Amino acid sequence: MNTSEHPSLPFLLLVVLLLLPAAYSIGVNYGTLGDNLPPPSEVAHFLKTRTTIDRIRIFDVNTTIIKAFANTGILVSVTVPNGDIPSLTDARNARRWIDANIKPFYPATKINYICMGTEVLHWGPQPLIDSLVPAMKVLNAALVKEGFNEIKISSPHSLGILLSSVPPSNASFRPGWDVGTLKPMLEFLKQTKAGFMVNPYTYFGYSPSNANFCLFKPNDGLFDKATGITYTNQFDQLMDAVHVSMKKLGYPDVEVVVAETGWPSGGDPANLHANPVNAAAYIGGLMKKVNSGDGTPLMPGRKFETYIFALFNENLKGPSLDEKNFGLFRPDFTQVYNVGIMHAPQAQAPSPSPLGAASASDAPSSAASPWDDAPFFNKSKPLTGSPVQAPPTSSNTNASATTNTDGAANLNVNFAAKSAAAFILAMTLLV
Ligand SMILES: *[C@@H]1O[C@H](CO)[C@@H](O)[C@H](O)[C@H]1NC(C)=O
Ligand SMILES: *[C@@H]1O[C@H](CO)[C@@H](O)[C@H](O)[C@H]1NC(C)=O
Ligand SMILES: *[C@@H]1O[C@H](CO)[C@@H](O)[C@H](O)[C@H]1NC(C)=O
Ligand SMILES: *[C@@H]1O[C@H](CO)[C@@H](O)[C@H](O)[C@H]1NC(C)=O
Repeated sequence: MNTSEHPSLPFLLLVVLLLLPAAYSIGVNYGTLGDNLPPPSEVAHFLKTRTTIDRIRIFDVNTTIIKAFANTGILVSVTVPNGDIPSLTDARNARRWIDANIKPFYPATKINYICMGTEVLHWGPQPLIDSLVPAMKVLNAALVKEGFNEIKISSPHSLGILLSSVPPSNASFRPGWDVGTLKPMLEFLKQTKAGFMVNPYTYFGYSPSNANFCLFKPNDGLFDKATGITYTNQFDQLMDAVHVSMKKLGYPDVEVVVAETGWPSGGDPANLHANPVNAAAYIGGLMKKVNSGDGTPLMPGRKFETYIFALFNENLKGPSLDEKNFGLFRPDFTQVYNVGIMHAPQAQAPSPSPLGAASASDAPSSAASPWDDAPFFNKSKPLTGSPVQAPPTSSNTNASATTNTDGAANLNVNFAAKSAAAFILAMTLLV
């Protein structure tokens, strides 16, 4: 090629790369509560060849899915269903469980985590909570015996484990759970070099007045007097609240894994903030944050292993429409919104400005979308009310975050299965 007359190939490639949205590697939760979802083999092929998704988490030990991801290089986190936890405190059962669910598939499928249950502290009941850490230890011993030293064991928590998160410097785990379960769990995670898994959802902390704070958009922030830090987004606030709580128990250095976080692209009419523009803003901001390696104000430079909730819209979830609309993709593999998660050429599709200062009103105005008139941030209306929702306690495991307070009018705490962080988030006073 005559470089004096034509731009060089490397130069052209550079230009092309700069024009494409940044491609971020990220994990997703692959839930399967849909009657129209593609077969796991197609899902594995799609993720490997078309997306930058490099790890998945599943909510069971479905062997069809585990097999489908063999030789893809995609990491797979599997989950022990809550009901199976007590039996795994028995060494023989633990060995059998490994023999049945891990051994036939590993290492062809790169299983990286076994999650012991899902939000066990949040949902209980108490005997399950009591068996959680013992089961993690016994199952780990079985893994080590088998020589599967690369597979780690952890257990994802809803942020109902926090007593408060505002301001982060004053956060702590709820009494009872703190030394009863979380301290021994953190000690186990430290010894096995595994991450502490949390499910922070700023979606459940949304109110019209803190929309931008929840969505990684410009806002006045939350000032923490004790540290002098101004938090510019709720994700950092929640992560630092977790960090401070861990530090209080003596475990500031255990890695934090974001096992679930997301934002629905559609929802019940009452939840106008569940829309594709906001979902793109949140997920786009999240991917940018976790891939930057910047960490948070109190965890600078940390890169959090992160799993978006969820891969697909799942039509059998519910009862709310929000629950059905957390997916990045529709069952036919089309994107619900574009946040640079596809390899080219899909990455060039127009995107609803995921990262900018756009407010909900900047949604494409061609049609009267239900989210066009989403409520705005109103600085002159201070929020009032308690900063803490009452999360389910270990003795009342069926309570689904009740005592909603006024400032969180739009906070749909009856979010059924999505448990979530509602309670602790409620109020974020933007001054
Ligand atoms: C495993 O997942 C596939 C795909 O979702 C589903 O069709 C199958 O029924 C599941 N198997 C079990 C045992 O749950
Ligand atoms: C710190 O948290 C405790 C317990 O939640 C609460 O009682 C106290 O008011 C908080 N202090 C500040 C300064 O927020
Ligand atoms: C903002 O809040 C103030 C104080 O509650 C209220 O007077 C005002 O009407 C609100 N503005 C808008 C645009 O809602
Ligand atoms: C929790 O709620 C479910 C569904 O409403 C019900 O079947 C179950 O008995 C309840 N459990 C407790 C401990 O109240």
